[in-house]
Amino acid sequence: MLLYCRPGFEPEAAAEVADHAARAGLVGYPQTERNSGYVRFHLARPADDALRPTWQELIFARQILQVIADIDLPDPTDRITPMLEALAGTGLRFGDLIVEHPDSDAGRPLAGLARSFGNALRPALRKVGLLGSTVILGRPTLHVCFVSGASAVLALSHPERSAPWPQGIPRLRLHRDAPSRSALKLEEALLVLLTADERATFLKPGMKAADLGAAPGGWSWVLAREGVHVTAIDNGPLGETARAQTLIRHQRADGFSWQPPHPMDWLVCDMVEQPSRVAARMADWFAQRWCRRAIFNLKLPMKKRYAEVQANLSDFVALCAADGVHVEWRAKQLYHDREEITVFAHRP
Ligand SMILES: C[S@@+](CC[C@H](N)C(=O)[O-])C[C@H]1O[C@@H](n2cnc3c(N)ncnc32)[C@H](O)[C@@H]1O
Repeated sequence: MLLYCRPGFEPEAAAEVADHAARAGLVGYPQTERNSGYVRFHLARPADDALRPTWQELIFARQILQVIADIDLPDPTDRITPMLEALAGTGLRFGDLIVEHPDSDAGRPLAGLARSFGNALRPALRKVGLLGSTVILGRPTLHVCFVSGASAVLALSHPERSAPWPQGIPRLRLHRDAPSRSALKLEEALLVLLTADERATFLKPGMKAADLGAAPGGWSWVLAREGVHVTAIDNGPLGETARAQTLIRHQRADGFSWQPPHPMDWLVCDMVEQPSRVAARMADWFAQRWCRRAIFNLKLPMKKRYAEVQANLSDFVALCAADGVHVEWRAKQLYHDREEITVFAHRP
């Protein structure tokens, strides 16, 4: 398996995929290189798709792919022939093609190569019948991941098990009125952690939300654009475009002690605080039935980040359960997350 992650978080992605594999009874081992932006997990035997972790189940992986072959590309004037040779005889036919590279310092200079090579490989694959003339749903997508100019990994993904975006990164543009770049983080969270159906039903005009640690107001602004009424809690000031939004009401208060006057549809929280403290406060909100759904960040400035996340999330669930509230969560280290992860939690 090939997983993409934020450079520097390879140990976390490796520990997490190894845990999943062990729980599924898969025998194998992870291989990492610090700051490479990817992790390999070598399986001792081919494994059933159903046993492999999916992209949605992993927090630290942006993408998970099934490796077909590692390819050496000694001749820069012909990188296509070795690829076609590696694919011939596999019996695989593809519905789409993605040519990409790890999102790392070493990988980013390969963007131009990936782009131009994709333009050349696509017709070559079509000519030999490996790729349809249009995108074919139901067939796997072929991924070519350049790890250098002279080597690539051929891999495949199934739409229900892998992220749909090249490199596992949804491309989002910061709106010129957004009060902060953090707006992109909430937009990405809504895109990555919720399904399209959930976005349509969970986020509707007229809903009410609280935003703890709201300033300068990016998250509040994203919610207000969906027609949600937001109470923005922060001792700091909101930016001009957030202040101009009539659906946002700013209240100067401490996010750890402020209580909502009535139940909220949403709680969002981006306070820079110890993750255990944030998780406990989120559990308070669910336990008191102050919110139905939440999106919150857990900041991870410490060394043992995977262990910290596991402890925080299991404490969060246990604290809710102690008050008779069943919560489910999904979490991801988003592209716009630095030393942190983003969690979506809800009472189903
Ligand atoms: C990363 S910023 C939030 C950015 C915001 N999500 C946005 O989109 O613009 C963190 C904010 O948390 C606030 N904060 C930290 N501790 C807080 C607390 N105990 N109560 C309220 N706000 C807090 C800080 O004042 C700061 O404005």
